[in-house]
Formats: sequence, C-alpha cells, structure tokens
Amino acid sequence: MYLSFLKASNFRCFANIELEFDQKYNLIYGENGSGKTSVLEAISYLGRGRSFRTNNVSDIVKWKTDDLLVYGKIISANSESSLGIMNGKSGLESSVNGDHTKGIAGLAHSLPFQIIDPNTHNLIGGGPEARRQYLDWILFHVEPEYIDIWRKYKKTLKQRNVLLKSHKNKTEIQNWDQGLAHLGEKISLMRDEIFILLEPVLMEFANELLDTNISLHINRGWSRDLALLDSLSNNFNQDIQYKSTQLGPHRADIKVSLEMGAAKRHISRGQQKLLACALINASIELVQSYIDKPILLLLDDPKAELDNNSTIKLIKQVCSLNSQVVATSIEPDESLFGSGTKMFHVEQINKKIS
Ligand SMILES: Nc1ncnc2c1ncn2[C@@H]1O[C@H](COP(=O)(O)OP(=O)(O)OP(=O)(O)O)[C@@H](O)[C@H]1O
Ligand SMILES: [Mg+2]
Repeated sequence: MYLSFLKASNFRCFANIELEFDQKYNLIYGENGSGKTSVLEAISYLGRGRSFRTNNVSDIVKWKTDDLLVYGKIISANSESSLGIMNGKSGLESSVNGDHTKGIAGLAHSLPFQIIDPNTHNLIGGGPEARRQYLDWILFHVEPEYIDIWRKYKKTLKQRNVLLKSHKNKTEIQNWDQGLAHLGEKISLMRDEIFILLEPVLMEFANELLDTNISLHINRGWSRDLALLDSLSNNFNQDIQYKSTQLGPHRADIKVSLEMGAAKRHISRGQQKLLACALINASIELVQSYIDKPILLLLDDPKAELDNNSTIKLIKQVCSLNSQVVATSIEPDESLFGSGTKMFHVEQINKKIS
C-alpha cells in the first residue's frame, strides 16, 4: 500500500498542488517557508483529520479562503482507493471511496502513517500524553476492538468527571465506577500485551541508534497491586478534591531509562530525538507485521538536531522498514535515500500549479 497521489486545495500556502508520489522514497525540498512541512501536514490531515502542528482549522485553511480540500489516492496490491477530506466554514466532511460514513477512523485505517519531525524529541522529553497516544496508535491498527473500548472509556470518564465537578453525592458518582473500571482494565490489558511485543523491537532499534541499552517500564496509571475498581474506591476523596478522576489508563505512561537514569532527564535533545525515532520506527515495524502492508513515514527535516553519523543511522533504520517515505529537506539531498529518490522542488510546484 502506498500513497500515489495527493491533491491539496486552499491548504496553508497552497492554492492548489498535485503530487504523484513514488512508492518508496520522496524528497520535498525548497527554502524556508516554501511549504515543505505544509505538504506533510496535508498528508497527515488526510490520514488523521487533524494537523500535527495545530488543532485550529483556521490556521491551515489558506488565508482569505473558506474551505480546504485534500484528496489522495492509495494503491494496494490489488486495489485502488480514494480518500478525501474537506473542512472550513462548511464543517468537516470525509470520504473513503465515496462513503461519507466512515469518519476519521476510516481515513486512518486507509492511510496509516507515522511522523518524525523536529518536535519528535517531545515523545521522550515531553509529557505522558504523547506516549499514551503512541501506544494507542499501535493498538488502533493492530486491535480492531480497541478504538471502541477506548471511546467508551473516554465517554464514561467524562461523565464521572462532570459529576465530580458538580459535587454530586458519592453513590451517584460511584455508579460509574464499575463500567469505568471494566473498560479501563481492558485498555490496560491490551496495552500490556502489545508492550510485550514492542519492547524487544524497541530495545534493538534504540541500541542501533544510540549504542546504548535502554530499559522500559509501563506505568498503567494505577497500582499494579490493585484492581482499578478498588483503586477508584480508595482514591475517592482525592478525586473529589481534584474534581477529576486521578487514576486509570488515562494516566498511564511509558518510562524509558538508560543506565544513568530516566531518559527524560538525562540525555540531550538530539539523543531524545534518536530515542523517539527508535520508538516510532519500532511501532512501524510492529504494526506492519500485523496489518501486512507498509506504513507511510513522513520525515520532516530529518537532519534537525542530529549530527552526520546519527542522521546516517536514522536513515538506515528507516530504510530497513521498507515503508514509503515522504521526507523534506532544504537541499535536494540525494545522499539521504540515494539516486532513486523522487524529488519535488516546492517552489516549482507552487509556481506551476497555484
Ligand atoms: N493558513 C495559511 N495560509 C497561507 N499561507 C500560510 C498559512 N499558514 C502558513 N502559511 C505560510 O506557508 C508557508 C510555508 O510554511 P511551511 O512551514 O510549510 O514551510 P517550510 O518549507 O516547511 O519551511 P521551513 O524550511 O522553515 O521548515 C509559510 O511562509 C507560512 O507563512
Ligand atoms: Mg518546515
């Protein structure tokens, strides 16, 4: 499976661009502000219904226009599918092969992708939410039940938190605990199971990029010694105090440690980026082995924060995944993926089509 064609209209700086991608390596180059990241953003918008740079639609709709449109064609071994997404004043609309009912999950299943960009180090150095989303992305693709359970959990959690905020009586709040705990335990079990498979791949990939051994630990968001239902009950007074549910898989985290201690605190930003790349590449490797189709990797300015040797190691690992890659760079740098790379000069695209 690969993204063969992309059309974006009124997206960021582009009035209209059309790109035909190679099924392996694509490099978008051009000077600062020419629109390289915007191309990757348009792809991510098509695959997830949201940008990786902003949650605000008005940021990505081209200035002085109303609606953006992104359209893509995906080619698989024996089929071709088309994806579309529109957003702006008229609201969000998506389609998978003309079917408007599949929503964002339909897009995400049709165009599975990961992204490595200059902010990727935050996966290690930033807060736990990005690490939970990382695990959730894997589970979304490998465990068909996961999204439904996760959505129900979020909904139940929201209801319980509304009651905690509105000072309802204890019984009324605790009426939600059984359901919440049941869903929470399921989420956590699935995360634990996938983590067992992910861990060895991740350790190998981290070792390749950083020449050091790492250890991983998943904190599930409440004590390993207690059932979630008991933890909720024991922690009730704190939940009342904070007006929100303090324990559960929505508070989970992955702790990544090196010999000297927690990666988050003890390594440089470049090393954090490398470690984060190992996490992302490991997730691609694992998901690809489950869904038996390549995952698209968007690689925005791969050299950012990395020395030459680290860049070479990263690209070597990326190439070993056998994924389709759409990368960006200031220069038309053939040394990254070799002479077979399909090159796109972003200024030229702009001039020719918009
Ligand atoms: N909503 C918008 N409408 C029109 N233009 C926009 C919009 N949002 C951003 N831009 C412009 O789009 C241009 C492209 O930005 P982008 O971040 O894609 O560039 P880039 O090539 O990745 O640059 P860099 O090399 O600095 O990373 C910028 O000049 C920016 O001002
Ligand atoms: Mg950029």
